[in-house]
Amino acid sequence: MTNNLGLPVGTTLDRFIKRNQEDFPYASGELSQLLRDIALAGKILNKEINHAGLDNIIGDMGETNVQGENQQKLDVVADIRFTRALRNGGEVCAIVSEENEEIVHLNPNSKYLVAIDPLDGSSNIDVNVSIGTIFSIYRRKSPLGSAATVEDVLQSGRDQVAAGYLLYGSSTMLVYTTGNKVNGFTYEPSLGEFFLSHRNMCIPKDGEIFSINEGYYNDYEEEIKAYVLSCKERHYSARYIGSLVGDFHRNLLKGGIYLYPSTKKNPSGKLRLLYECNALAFIAEQAGGKATNGKQAILDILPETFHQRTPFLVGSPMMVDEVMENLKKVTSGK
Ligand code: AHG
Ligand code: MN
Ligand code: MN
Repeated sequence: MTNNLGLPVGTTLDRFIKRNQEDFPYASGELSQLLRDIALAGKILNKEINHAGLDNIIGDMGETNVQGENQQKLDVVADIRFTRALRNGGEVCAIVSEENEEIVHLNPNSKYLVAIDPLDGSSNIDVNVSIGTIFSIYRRKSPLGSAATVEDVLQSGRDQVAAGYLLYGSSTMLVYTTGNKVNGFTYEPSLGEFFLSHRNMCIPKDGEIFSINEGYYNDYEEEIKAYVLSCKERHYSARYIGSLVGDFHRNLLKGGIYLYPSTKKNPSGKLRLLYECNALAFIAEQAGGKATNGKQAILDILPETFHQRTPFLVGSPMMVDEVMENLKKVTSGK
């Protein structure tokens, strides 16, 4: 018996990756191995998250990361797990991470570079709410054999070769794209395998969920306030758990919009272009959705610094278009 991809029912992530690789006769297998390495680190981290309350790895490190934010113990553990898996796998020349100021150099003979938010939703760790990992994979521009450069890191989201996220929720999932549709895999812990569970994920064109931190309402621009009010007038549901991966995943499945706009205090918003927004924008577009900073598509932004932030509006295309229309009217004075 096969499903509509011609794959046997119960397709494991490994088989799916292998099958996709066979579609590209000249593929060297390095990207496939890299995706497997990320999945392995995800499994290890999943185990640690499930044990966190018992293993004394919940809570604050007592230190701040490069963004000046409090580091949780699991932020650090997650960073170590992914770095180690990618170092051992050997398919990556360098990693840039939300948790590190500088490039972490790995195998100079590898052609891929990874940007990662090892643990997304840190504020939810202590309270047993879903958290995640977000990653982007780029092909380096500098020659093989040398150390990765700043130019290798500062590529636009359009240059992503693959991107994905792990969601440690009521079940653990890996969702990724290599630029040809989006597929989701659910982890079966007793077998230690991810199985294809969500084939060719497509976001509904329109939705009735809006996800924004309304606590900052007074600090938003007028057009964002107007959009939030219009959602309420239409009796849309407000859903915001404060883990971007979780909020994004729900909206991807059900239709909706996630907004982390600029505020008076933080004109560039909070979310990081390289570690969070690019990957989710790539997935959103591949699933038929849209992602913008309010002025241009997220994927078209040319990053200037590793840790730069950007306003982020992502989700069902009709909902994103509606906000954009409002923003345009205001900018053009109509
Ligand atoms: P991180 O834990 O990687 O720092 O990311 C937290 C992000 C994101 O996951 C979430 O949507 C957002 O911060 C929540 O921020 P607010 O508490 O300001 O709403
Ligand atoms: Mn994050
Ligand atoms: Mn994080």
